[in-house]
Amino acid sequence: QNERAAYRLRYHLMAPSGWMNDPNGLIYFNGQYHAFYQHYPYGETWGPMHWGHGISDDLIHWHHLPVALAPGEAYDRDGCFSGSAVDDQGTLTLIYTGHNVIDPEKDVIVQNQNIARSRDGIHFYKANANPVIHQQPAGMGQDFRDPKVWRENGVWFMVVGATKHDQGQVLLYESANLEEWTYRGVLAQNDGGNEGYMWECPDFFKLGDKYVLLASPQGVEPEGDRYLNHHQTVYMVGDYVNGQFIRSSFTELDYGHDFYAVQTLLDGKGRRIAIGWMDMWESPKPSQKHGWAGAMTLPRELVLTEEGKIAMKPIEELTLLRQQSTPIGPLHVKHVHPILSSGNLVELEAQFALVDSDASAFGIRFCCAADGSEETVLRFDLLKHTVTLDRSRSGEGPGGARTVSIKSAATIDVRLFIDRSSVEVFINDGETVITSRIYPQETSTGMTVFAEGGSIVMPTCTVHKLKSIWS
Ligand code: FRU
Repeated sequence: QNERAAYRLRYHLMAPSGWMNDPNGLIYFNGQYHAFYQHYPYGETWGPMHWGHGISDDLIHWHHLPVALAPGEAYDRDGCFSGSAVDDQGTLTLIYTGHNVIDPEKDVIVQNQNIARSRDGIHFYKANANPVIHQQPAGMGQDFRDPKVWRENGVWFMVVGATKHDQGQVLLYESANLEEWTYRGVLAQNDGGNEGYMWECPDFFKLGDKYVLLASPQGVEPEGDRYLNHHQTVYMVGDYVNGQFIRSSFTELDYGHDFYAVQTLLDGKGRRIAIGWMDMWESPKPSQKHGWAGAMTLPRELVLTEEGKIAMKPIEELTLLRQQSTPIGPLHVKHVHPILSSGNLVELEAQFALVDSDASAFGIRFCCAADGSEETVLRFDLLKHTVTLDRSRSGEGPGGARTVSIKSAATIDVRLFIDRSSVEVFINDGETVITSRIYPQETSTGMTVFAEGGSIVMPTCTVHKLKSIWS
């Protein structure tokens, strides 16, 4: 095992080396998926931002392409910050933020919006017209970034993250040609609640019969078990009438420790697919000792539920990763039942039938060391109606537990994806999702299910060993 490869993921998109943060420019273009990302190729910490680039036929198997954007023009001197991609009559076009530090001591910056085009989908040329938006509207704060562009009725629209009087905002722009933009006003904002002082990485789209705004707010203060990260991607559901978005919610999209700066794409099948940065500014990153940091989450399909909430389902292509499937259920678990002796590239599909059970709590222990020194625990508490992901004994690194309320239901379905240093838990078809990084030893690979205060019935339980997508 190469020392520098410690904690590297086997079936997620990561930079070939160095640092990665936000997904950028997610697009289904000419029958292939492109994923760009914030990238510092020369080190394992954040630095002058480049755009890394991956390409895939199925959103599962990725190939690295050369770095697509590097900073250095007068308008993007200190970084090519986050943005999006569009298909402009067959030309793959990126829209990104130019970051310019004016006074590092006083923290004075200038941010503007730019475009870059490609003839071959690999090499990108920054437009002569850059910056296509020079600065934020008068009276706004200096943070002005992360353009997400889409086309509707023959017109280009853009949402951009912004701030005014320390309240997060999303601004709306319009253009006929991607080069000349007209400001249309504030699409949504923090109206003074605990919703953050800057809304990063906005995304806006129709889902079912509603409109959805995603934003990654900076500065949301923790409220009990909610918003435990300073940064946390949220969604707002509402109606969009005459350029106005009237929203009725402000809800976390994922309840894990490491999920931020989410962006979506619309694919050829009409699916709205979300990918997030599977790390977090505040999280300690033990992988940095080994020369890299950051990864993307698995792709998730967004679905609007009958209650007006967003569910995130693992996309169906993920079954392509299955290499060997072992059905273990049905099980009647009294105390502890081992279900896997060794594996850290694993998907578990498990169903728990609560009506037939008298346990007060149950769950799954995974990435367990044989000597009991390490484990990560997913525990459902039926008295409190909560689920907790506990990584306090997960190994090296951040620790902490995250608890979320769940609806009472007759059954609980769990799909759990483990990829060495990542955990993604999808409960009841993506109604509740928990994404966190863990840093266990390479040998901590056991898995058990357990029941407390009685027994739990598992009508089905299947362990899938998964393949690596990297050679
Ligand atoms: C979000 C973010 C964006 C910015 C980028 C810089 O994580 O802060 O607002 O464009 O990262 O890397």
